Formats: sequence, C-alpha cells, structure tokens
Amino acid sequence: MKKTHSLNQLPIDKQPTLRVTTRPNDANKSGDIFGGWLMSQIDIAGAIAAAERAKGAVVTVAVKELQFIRPLFVYDLVSFYAEVTATGKTSITISVEVYAQRYLSGDGMMEKISEATLVYVAVSAPGIPREVPPLLATFLVGP
Ligand SMILES: CC(C)(COP(=O)(O)OP(=O)(O)OC[C@H]1O[C@@H](n2cnc3c(N)ncnc32)[C@H](O)[C@@H]1OP(=O)(O)O)[C@@H](O)C(=O)NCCC(=O)NCCS
Repeated sequence: MKKTHSLNQLPIDKQPTLRVTTRPNDANKSGDIFGGWLMSQIDIAGAIAAAERAKGAVVTVAVKELQFIRPLFVYDLVSFYAEVTATGKTSITISVEVYAQRYLSGDGMMEKISEATLVYVAVSAPGIPREVPPLLATFLVGP
C-alpha cells in the first residue's frame, strides 16, 4: 500500500467512514495512544464498510495486515477511510487508511498514521456465513 506520511488535508475524493478524538484514557504510560485502541477503531470502521456491502451483519474473520506508521497522541482527531477491495462468496476484504489531525500542534498538521487490510464474513446468525448480495447496477437516466 502507498504511504503518505504528511498531508495538508484529508483525502478530498472520499468520505471518512468514522471520525473520533482520542481521550486521555486511551493513552499508555508513555503518553501516546495504546495500539489496541486503534486496532479496535480500525475494526469498527472496517465493519461499517463491510456491513454496508453485505447489507447486514458481518463478523471479522482475519486481520491480514496492520501497520502502525506514526504514533497517535491524546486529542488527535482521527479519520478512518474504509473501502471494499474484494468480495468472495461470503467474504469481504476491506482496506482501512487512518489519518490523524494533530490537535496540539496548532497548525492542524495531518499525518497518515496507520493502514490495514481486514476480511469480514457476512453472517445470517453467529457462526453461519451467508452469501454477499450482488451489487445492483446503477442506470443513469437523462436526456
Ligand atoms: C467467520 C465464520 C462465520 C466463518 O465460518 P466458516 O464456517 O469457517 O466459513 P468458511 O470456511 O466457509 O469461510 C467463510 C469465508 O471466510 C473466508 N476466510 C476464512 N478464514 C479466512 C482467513 N483466515 N483469511 C481470509 N479469509 C478467510 C473463506 O475463504 C470464506 O470466503 P468466501 O466465502 O468468500 O470464499 C466463523 O469462522 C466465525 O464465526 N468466526 C468467529 C468470528 C468472530 O468471532 N469474529 C470476532 C468478532 S466480530
């Protein structure tokens, strides 16, 4: 995956799936944010995108890749961009890119801090996979 460490603005061609501010309770002893907190938020963002594609419940079956590129600090505003990269019979692969706006830097500096690839499975009940529905074609009607 392409890494871009510093940006002046968030990606303009897509909408964030999730935005959240880090809190002091999310920090570890050294003062930056606990990696497990970020992993949890990545899973939530990925599940939102997967559930939209699955039109219903999904479960996480695998985290294929997760990279912590830059540290995250208390009160950073964190934006998660999740998108479907592949679908199988019952599985949906999601790419998540994470950007932090540095609250304390004063200049709103933006950095890409993490990226991940996760696989979800559409389920009809816990433990029971179901087929991912086909994508409906969109027709443009006009003069
Ligand atoms: C996810 C789950 C429903 C799959 O059930 P299963 O009977 O093993 O189903 P399958 O073996 O047919 O796998 C289902 C799909 O997942 C894919 N899959 C399974 N393990 C995978 C892995 N490690 N990596 C990538 N894909 C995987 C399979 O390739 C299959 O995809 P396809 O249908 O698109 O070809 C079941 O394993 C489960 O409930 N796991 C626990 C999920 C969970 O608790 N997650 C954490 C909380 S959300």
